[in-house]
Order: sequence, then structure tokens, then C-alpha cells
Amino acid sequence: MTDQPTPESIMQVGMAFWPSKTLLSAVEIGVFTELAQGPQPLPRLRTSLGLHPRGARDFLDCLVALGFLRRSEDGYSNTPATDAFLDKQKPSYVGGLLEMANHRLYGAWGDLTEALRTGLPQNEASAGEGSPFVPLYADPARLRQFLVAMTSISRGSNMALAAKFPWAKYKTFADAGAAQGDLAVQIARANPHLSGAGFDLPEVGPIFEDYVRSHGVADRVRFIAGNFFEQPLPEADVILMGHILHDWGLDDKRTLIRKAYEALPEGGSFVVSESIIDDDRSTNAFGLMMSLNMLVETPAGFDYTGADCQRWMREAGFRETRVEHLTGPDSMVIGIR
Ligand SMILES: C[S@@+](CC[C@H](N)C(=O)[O-])C[C@H]1O[C@@H](n2cnc3c(N)ncnc32)[C@H](O)[C@@H]1O
Repeated sequence: MTDQPTPESIMQVGMAFWPSKTLLSAVEIGVFTELAQGPQPLPRLRTSLGLHPRGARDFLDCLVALGFLRRSEDGYSNTPATDAFLDKQKPSYVGGLLEMANHRLYGAWGDLTEALRTGLPQNEASAGEGSPFVPLYADPARLRQFLVAMTSISRGSNMALAAKFPWAKYKTFADAGAAQGDLAVQIARANPHLSGAGFDLPEVGPIFEDYVRSHGVADRVRFIAGNFFEQPLPEADVILMGHILHDWGLDDKRTLIRKAYEALPEGGSFVVSESIIDDDRSTNAFGLMMSLNMLVETPAGFDYTGADCQRWMREAGFRETRVEHLTGPDSMVIGIR
């Protein structure tokens, strides 16, 4: 009986864009930020959110049925999770990634079939040449949204990395492609003996510096502006790259790994963190979909397994390598020079 196939998971995954887009629109409309003020009955909430009467009740009840809102005689209210993580006014807000998913990725993934047929990105970088960050950063609002989204997606693994890596052995670190600076902030906060730098393109500097200052570690974490394909990486005991290698094709990945090797002293460590795919390429679905995301977002990027990364590190000269799980789909690959 139990071996009888059912269409349940096929239908669930096939229609998963329904709940996804409902939540993304709720974040865009500001439902959870509005309800963080307190419960509201339908007529008032509909007006404060600017919703047409036709879909408002179904939309809000759907959020109840999906477990993102509650409804009582006082009206609609947030759940503890949506109140903590989807109220834009709280520092615990994690909607940055969802805002970018709604604004950019949802459209690009609509053209996944085209990307699969042509191998070309389906976003601002659709010309398919050069760095995808040039068209992405051409609009300052898009630049900020992207950097904030990086903090949302990386926060959990940044905290795990700050806690799990053997930092006591080291004094300095440099995070290459640091974005808003969350990894540098988490490392500095968890390890008061360390000082470090975030290295990124010059236009990222002001957003990085604001973030580091607001977390009280500006005395130990500085910004270094540069292009990691055009200049050496800053020297440090530990070089980190979070969600960097997957943005690029194999030759560029190898170049970046070699640059990390060159910037380290003997005994220094290179730490690569992202959604490292399992070696059998059969269980880390998020990592594999992240690789498809690189297909629609970049001209040549792809995600890879821990075995792939360790092989590239060994080829660059690293004498010891290992993979350690961080959190959820994310792991770190460590290479010791
Ligand atoms: C996918 S984001 C990863 C951000 C962050 N490390 C994380 O894990 O959340 C890639 C980062 O690489 C930076 N970047 C892209 N091209 C670069 C280059 N040529 N030189 C330096 N940084 C670059 C981008 O500005 C961006 O911050």
C-alpha cells in the first residue's frame, strides 16, 4: 500500500509559486510591518494597506491559512515569527532577501526555460558578458537592495561560522566580497581579539561602513575598496569568501582561490562558505537551485560540491582541506596553506 505512488508532491512543488508569491506580495505591501502596530479588522487593514476590496479578504485569509497571520475577533494579527522577522522596523527583519526575490528573481526565474535552452542570464545581465555586478549596481536602489538581501541570506551561516571556526589561533581576517559586512560584523562581535577588513567594489563602501558602525565594531573592522580580479586580496591570517565562487565560471573561481592562497601566510586559512552541494549531488536541493539561480543571474556562475572545491584548493597549493556544515543548506570549505 505504502509503495503506491501519489501525485501529492508533484502538485505541491508544481504549484509552490502560489504560496511563494502570496508571501512575497505581503512583504512588498507591508502587511507584517502594519500589523506590528497591533491587530486590525478587515476594513481598516484593507484601507491602511491600499488593497482593492475584491482580493483583500482572500489574500489575508490565505496568509492565515499559510500560518503567517492570525485572525481573532480583534481582526488580523502577526504570528510571533512574522512579527519578529517580517516587521521592517525591527533589527531582526529578514525580508531583505524576499524583497529582492520579489523584485528581481521572481521575474528572472519566469524565464528559466529560456536560460536552460540558451545558457544566458535572464536579468539585467542578459547581454551575457562581463561582470554581472556592473548592470546590477548601475541603479543605487538596486545596489542597496542586493547588499541587504545578502545579509538576510547569509546571517545564519555567518553566525555559525563566527562561532565554529577555530578563531583563537588567528589575529586578522579579510572577507573578500563582503557586501554589507555581516560576516565581518558577526566574526568581530563573537571574537573580540580579532581585527579585520571587508574587501569589495568601491560603491559598496558607504553601505558597509554604515552597517559596521551601527553594530559597534568600526574600531576593528575597516573597508578596503578594490576589484578582486584586478588587484591582490588584502593579506590576513584568514581569508573568507561567502557566496563568491558561485558567481563565476571555473577559470575565475581558480583565479580567486589562487589569490586567496597568495594573500595568506604559512598556516593561514581560506574559508569558503555557501550552499555547498552534497558530493552525490542528490540531496542539497537548495544548493542545486542556487546553482540554477546563478544560471539565470550570471553569465557563467555555478554552485559546486565540497569535493570540487577541495580539489581546486589542493590544485592551488593548499596542504589540508575539509568541509564543515554550518546551518541549513550551507557549509564551509576550509583550506590551510
Ligand atoms: C553574492 S555577493 C556575496 C556577499 C557576501 N559575501 C555574502 O555571502 O552574503 C558577491 C559580492 O562580491 C562582490 N564583488 C563582485 N565582484 C567583485 C570584484 N570584482 N571585486 C570585489 N568584490 C566583488 C559584490 O559586490 C558582492 O558584495
